[in-house]
Amino acid sequence: MNSTQTQRYTITAALPYANGPLHIGHIAGAYLPADTFARFLRMLGKDVAFVCGSDEHGAAITIKARKEGVSPKRVIDKFHALNKATFKDFGISFDIYHRTSEPIHHKTSQDFFTVLNDKGYFEINESEQYYDEEASQFLADRYIVGTCPKCGHDSAYGDQCENCGSSLSPTDLIEPKSTLTGSIPVLKKTKHWYLPMQKHEAWIKDWIVNGLLDGKKHHNPEEWKNHVLGQCRSWIEGGLQPRAMTRDLDWGVKVPLEDAEGKVLYVWLDAPIGYISATKAWAEKNNKNWKDYWQNDDTKLIHFIGKDNIVFHCIIFPIILKSYGHDFLLPDNVPANEFLNLEGNKLSTSRNWAVWLHEYLKEFPGKQDVLRYVLTTISPENKDSEFTWKDFQAKNNNELVAILGNFVNRTMVLSHKYFNGEVPVRGEMVKYDEEVAAQVAEIPQKVESLIMQYKFREALAEAMKLARLGNKYLADTEPWKLFPQDPEIVKTILNICLQITANLGIVLQPFLPRTAEKIQFMLGLRDSKWDQAGKMDILYPYDKLGRTELLFKKVEDDVVEQQVKKLEKAKLSSLPAEPEKDTIDFEDFIKIDMRIGTILHAEKVPKTKKLLKLKIDTGIDTRTIVSGIAEYFSPDEILGMQVCVLVNLKPRKIKGIESQGMILMAEDRDGSLSFIKPGKKINNGSSIR
Ligand code: MF3
Ligand code: ZN
Repeated sequence: MNSTQTQRYTITAALPYANGPLHIGHIAGAYLPADTFARFLRMLGKDVAFVCGSDEHGAAITIKARKEGVSPKRVIDKFHALNKATFKDFGISFDIYHRTSEPIHHKTSQDFFTVLNDKGYFEINESEQYYDEEASQFLADRYIVGTCPKCGHDSAYGDQCENCGSSLSPTDLIEPKSTLTGSIPVLKKTKHWYLPMQKHEAWIKDWIVNGLLDGKKHHNPEEWKNHVLGQCRSWIEGGLQPRAMTRDLDWGVKVPLEDAEGKVLYVWLDAPIGYISATKAWAEKNNKNWKDYWQNDDTKLIHFIGKDNIVFHCIIFPIILKSYGHDFLLPDNVPANEFLNLEGNKLSTSRNWAVWLHEYLKEFPGKQDVLRYVLTTISPENKDSEFTWKDFQAKNNNELVAILGNFVNRTMVLSHKYFNGEVPVRGEMVKYDEEVAAQVAEIPQKVESLIMQYKFREALAEAMKLARLGNKYLADTEPWKLFPQDPEIVKTILNICLQITANLGIVLQPFLPRTAEKIQFMLGLRDSKWDQAGKMDILYPYDKLGRTELLFKKVEDDVVEQQVKKLEKAKLSSLPAEPEKDTIDFEDFIKIDMRIGTILHAEKVPKTKKLLKLKIDTGIDTRTIVSGIAEYFSPDEILGMQVCVLVNLKPRKIKGIESQGMILMAEDRDGSLSFIKPGKKINNGSSIR
C-alpha cells in the first residue's frame, strides 16, 4: 500500500547556528516534522539519508563570540556539542549531525564557488560599502543596523528587517550604525562576487509555479504549501536581484581565489552546501555513494525549514545547484513551517522567552514523547501557532494519559489477569467487531497519506483514533462484566484490543518512538513493519505478552505553575534598566554618608512578612535598623555579614521600632534583592564614596 514509488529520499533539516541552544520553536519548525517523516519512510523500507549539522559561520557566530569575549571556535564547539546531544536525547534520528567547520565542507563549498566562477555564473562588482573604521571591518548583514526604509522599524539588519520581513541591503538603511562598535560607518570601496539571480528568473519561475524543469515535469506545485508558494511568488514578482556571494570577513570559508584575500563565502552560500558535505561524510562512513542522494533521478530531496529560510532554499540554493550542473537534484518539496509562539509572545533567544529543549529534557526526564506529542498537535504547518504550559498539561493528562495510556494499560492488565499474559484465541467476530476491524484497517492508510502530504498534525490525530476506538470498544463491550459467564467472548474482545494495541505500536512509531517501542515491548513484538499496520493478526494466539508498563503519568498543577513562573522570571530579567534620574551636584552626593557595617543580630519583626530587625555595628556605634528583606533572607544566613549602610538617614519609626538608617540593597527586575558587600574584609565604619 505504499503511496510512493520513490525508493530513495534525502531529507534535510535546516542547519541550526551553533550560537545558542535549541528551543521548542526550532523543534516544531523543522526538526520534529523532519524526524517524523524520516522515521516513517524508513518504516516503509525506503533508503533514507536524513542529514543535519551545525551552521558555524556567519555573523550569528562572530557577534555572539564578540559579546562573550571568547573566540568563535569556543562558541561553536560548545553549542555544537550541546545541540548534537540534545537532538539525540530528544530522539531526532539524524543519520549524521555534521558541522560546517569540517574540512570536507570547506572543500565542497569552495568547489561550488570555483565551478560557478569558472563557468561565468558570477559577476564581479566593485562598489562602495559601509566600513567600521574602529573595528577595521566591512559591515554587511547583521553587522549593521539602522531604520528600515519600508516600515520604519529602528533596528533592521543590513540584510533583512525582522519586523516587516523585507530583504534589504546595508545601503538601504536609514541612519546606519555598526553593531560591533556602535560607530557611524563610512563608505569604502570593495570588490565582491555576485550571483545575478535575475538571469535565472525565468526557469525558477517555471519550476516553482508550474513544477517544470527544462520543460519536463519535476514536481506537482499543488503539493507545496500555500504560504511557501506565496513567499516565492512575491520574491519572483518583486524581481530577483544580484546577491553578493562573498563577504569581507575573517570567519568563514575562504574564497578560493588568489585575488580574494580577506574574503570568505557568504554564509548562505556555504551553509546549504553543508547538506551535501554532511551526506558525503555519512556516505563515506557507511559505504554508500553520496551521488545517489544528490544526483540521481530516483531520489527525492526534501528540505525541512522554518519560514524565515524559504527564499534561501527555494530560490538561491536551487540556482546554485542547477548552475553547478551534474544533474544536481532540486527539492521535490520544501514543507516550511510557520512560527510557534509561547504563552502569547514571540519566542526570543535574546529575551530568554523560550522553552529550551535541553532544560526540558533535564526537568522532564523520560518525557520526550510528551513534548513530541504536544508539539505535533500544535505544529505551525500553515499558520503561526502557540505553546502554553496549560495546553501541555491538558494534552498530557486528557489525551496521552486518559486515552492512549489508559487503553493500552487496561488491555494489558485484563489480558494478564484473565489469560495469564498470553494472547487469547479470537473466536467468531460479531458485527460490531467487524466494524471495529474495518476502522482499524483504514486508519493507517489515512495516516500514511497525511504524512506524505506533510500534514503531521492531522496524521497524529488520525493515529490517536486507534486509541479512542479501543477505549470505546472496551467501554461498549465491558469484558470485565462478561468474563464470569462467558470467558470465550472475552477472548475475542481482548484479542481485538491487543491487535489494536499492536497497531498503535506501529502507527505511533514515527511520532512517538519511545512510546511505540514500549508498546511493542509489552506485546513481545519486534521489528514491526509499516505494512503490518491495519491488520488484525499482528499478534498470534498464545504469543507471550511482556510486563505491563505505564506509558504516561499525570502532569500536576505545581509542575506547570513552576514552568510559567520560570518564564515570568525570564521576562522580568530581560526588562530594560530603569531610566536614569536627574543629574545632581557633587555637593548633594557628599551629603550622603554611607559606611561598611557588620550585622550583629537579626530577628523577624513579629506579625510582619517582610521586616527584619537588625543590630548593626557601623564602626561609629551599634544601632537598630529595620529592613524589608525578610522574604529573601533568614536571620541566620545574614549574621556576621558586612554590608553597606546609609547612616545619616533621619530615624523613622517602623512598626513601633525606631530604625536608624538603611541597608543598601540591589533590586533585580523581578523584585528579588541582593546585598551589596565589600570585596574584602574591611573595617566597620569605612566610608563608601
Ligand atoms: N543557520 C540558519 C538559521 O538558523 C539555517 C541554515 S539552513 C542551511 O536560520 F541550509 F543553510 F543550512
Ligand atoms: Zn521593516
